[in-house]
Amino acid sequence: MKKPLIITLIVIAVLVATHFGTVLWLRDPDVNLRLDFDRIRGEPLRFGKGFLWGTATAAHQVEGNCTNNNWFQFESAVDENSKPRILNNQKAGIACDHWNRYKEDIQLMKALSLNSYRFSVEWSKIEPKPGQFDEAALDHYEQVVDELLANGIEPVVTLHHFTDPIWFTEQGAFLQDDSPDIFVRFVERVVQRLGPKVKLWCTINEPSIYAILGYFTAEFPPAEKDAQKAAIVFKNMLRAHTASYAAIKKIQPEAQVGLVVYMSSFDPPNQWYLLDVLVARLLNKNLVESHFQYLAEGRFDFSIPGLAKESYNSGVKDAFDFVGLNYYTHFWRRLNPFSQEQFVEMTRVPPEQLTDMGYSIYPEGLYRALKLITSHTSKPIYITESGIADDSDTKRAKYIEDHLLVVNKGIAEGMNIKGYFYWSLMDNFEWAHGFEKRFGLYHTDYSTQQRTLRQGSRKYLEIIQKSKE
Ligand code: FCB
Repeated sequence: MKKPLIITLIVIAVLVATHFGTVLWLRDPDVNLRLDFDRIRGEPLRFGKGFLWGTATAAHQVEGNCTNNNWFQFESAVDENSKPRILNNQKAGIACDHWNRYKEDIQLMKALSLNSYRFSVEWSKIEPKPGQFDEAALDHYEQVVDELLANGIEPVVTLHHFTDPIWFTEQGAFLQDDSPDIFVRFVERVVQRLGPKVKLWCTINEPSIYAILGYFTAEFPPAEKDAQKAAIVFKNMLRAHTASYAAIKKIQPEAQVGLVVYMSSFDPPNQWYLLDVLVARLLNKNLVESHFQYLAEGRFDFSIPGLAKESYNSGVKDAFDFVGLNYYTHFWRRLNPFSQEQFVEMTRVPPEQLTDMGYSIYPEGLYRALKLITSHTSKPIYITESGIADDSDTKRAKYIEDHLLVVNKGIAEGMNIKGYFYWSLMDNFEWAHGFEKRFGLYHTDYSTQQRTLRQGSRKYLEIIQKSKE
């Protein structure tokens, strides 16, 4: 063989080896994980006595009359093409009238043998003007908590679930450097009032989603498209978590306080193509793992080359007692310089089944998320949201069963999983999707406010009952 040919072959071999070596090094080894549900269905249930069997809602989506927050404004706004922000121009309005019907709704939980309820308190109702607190609104939430306790249901309170008072939005919301202090003033009032009765507090729901959808993809208010702003907002929400953690513990030292993290792995459509693998790695690092680095070490490093860079060190380690995990699906993402979505394109790899949201049904992803959290911390994990939009109710039962089998498998392997909250108790206002997407254990008829148990939801009750045998 001629020398130049040999050299060319060696160079090619080195490049190929480097490519695949890097791919193997960066790739999540569980990306192809498939569980045999028929087999694990036979395993004994290990949820244990103290396991929280719950359901979750958020104030704006169910209460009704949230007329003093950023979403209320957003629902009347239009985009740059004069199109309404919400599908079919819908508005949350009276939503499920849960504010007035909470007692009946608590009976709906009881009918399913649930022993916990995760709900959020609406900041704009409690603090309608900066520093002015509405005692009647606090009374209301205290009554909800009392009613839950009287029915043997553990209240789990989320302090921030996507909505901000209009005055806070006008100030610049979480772009402001002092936003954590402003938020903490509200947190203290709530904890002083509900403190001893509520033991489990979720500070902030899904900071990455609030930041990215609000400031980068423009699906949420304030509908901006500025990655750097998204990174700043994300950082300030994490700072607000740490500040809230300290404030809550000061008032109620025995409280259990956690952050709720949206986890969906970003997977490469072509698992042997370095660029796809790099994109997935970048997204997972910045949008998922960043939470755990911050919680454990107080360090926030957000970096998407050419788009955003933000670093911060709170100097506070371990400011959390549990991790709240919201899990729905995983996303396939590939690099495409011409994509509308700023270089990264969402794509789909068949043959996964889809929910009405267009999400892949992928219970293995819940296992991967639990595994990832467990690799960062041994503190308790609550699955604070997991559920399916399924109007036809043909997939719900299997969805619930498979996801609970995954939780059971995790517990059997020693993961510290303490509760599961199905999203949601009843169909409700699904943000930019309006009322079209139906996640409820109960079907909601919005014209009569009648709730009807879905057939598929009986699976949840069945597993809860079985776990007690
Ligand atoms: C989560 C949100 C929750 C609900 C579900 C479907 O990301 O926290 O409010 O909209 O998605």
